[in-house]
Amino acid sequence: MRRPLAWCLPLVLGAGCGVPSAREVGEQLFTDPRFSLSETNAFACATCHAVDAEDTRMLTGANLVGATARPSYWGGFETTMLDASNVCLTRFMRGGLLAADEPRGRALYEYLRSLGTEQGKDAVPFTVVENTTSLERGDAARGAEVWQRACAGCHGEPHTGEGRLDDSAVSVPEASAAFAASLGFTTDAVVIEKVRHGVFFNIGGTMPPSSLEVLTDEDLGALLAYLEI
Ligand code: HEC
Ligand code: HEC
Repeated sequence: MRRPLAWCLPLVLGAGCGVPSAREVGEQLFTDPRFSLSETNAFACATCHAVDAEDTRMLTGANLVGATARPSYWGGFETTMLDASNVCLTRFMRGGLLAADEPRGRALYEYLRSLGTEQGKDAVPFTVVENTTSLERGDAARGAEVWQRACAGCHGEPHTGEGRLDDSAVSVPEASAAFAASLGFTTDAVVIEKVRHGVFFNIGGTMPPSSLEVLTDEDLGALLAYLEI
């Protein structure tokens, strides 16, 4: 009963009272980590997907404007939006599968469809680097910018983790230095592997992978220079 009461508060304030539309509910769900029913999840859809052409972050997930009209998803691996979203829900957000008839899924769909079906309707390429190799170090100043646009949203500041999304986003590169040392790898090899494969390729965790379209090898080389690894 708490929710209907909250919705009716505007009536008290004189602004009218109504049940929000599916689109409005969907818009709110898009930025809410609780869309996943897992209590340990800190990610919302909006953590990894932009819905604004002006967004300059280098997000691992594609911009979702026009997504409801795309012919395929996840670089051709998925054919429906529901299946594509369920990969994210289970792999990154630790949630259960969303069923086709669930109202919250429907609401999210209505919201995404309301963003338009013309612009962004082509399939988005998603090229995964299978075998990672060592990379040439680039410009550290460029690397600092890459960190801000690609990593800071989850990891906060490098080294200290200040401002990070939550405790699960470990401190980079320190956490990898310890892990690499324990296995006899170099730290940069662990970071490159993690950035390119995220939770996949038997690596585990919840971090999403970055495709070559999102982050070029040159960007990644610059990032390594910035992190001094
Ligand atoms: C931790 C990051 C992350 C979160 C959180 C996340 N996604 Fe994704 N999502 C990705 C990545 C990475 C891909 C694969 C690249 C791509 O195709 O966008 C992807 C792909 C998709 C696609 C396919 C896009 C396309 O055109 O190929 C859809 C649709 C999608 N996600 C919906 C959602 C929805 C809805 C949510 C929230 C319930 C969500 N995602 C949460 C990272 C994430
Ligand atoms: C959507 C949130 C998100 C983004 C964006 C993200 N990470 Fe992560 N990352 C995590 C989380 C959560 C973990 C811990 C869980 C795991 O290992 O998957 C992690 C783990 C790592 C690790 C593993 C550390 C270890 O234990 O060895 C490295 C390295 C790393 N991230 C580097 C990066 C870099 C570099 C970027 C930017 C190019 C980045 N991450 C972007 C969420 C994120």
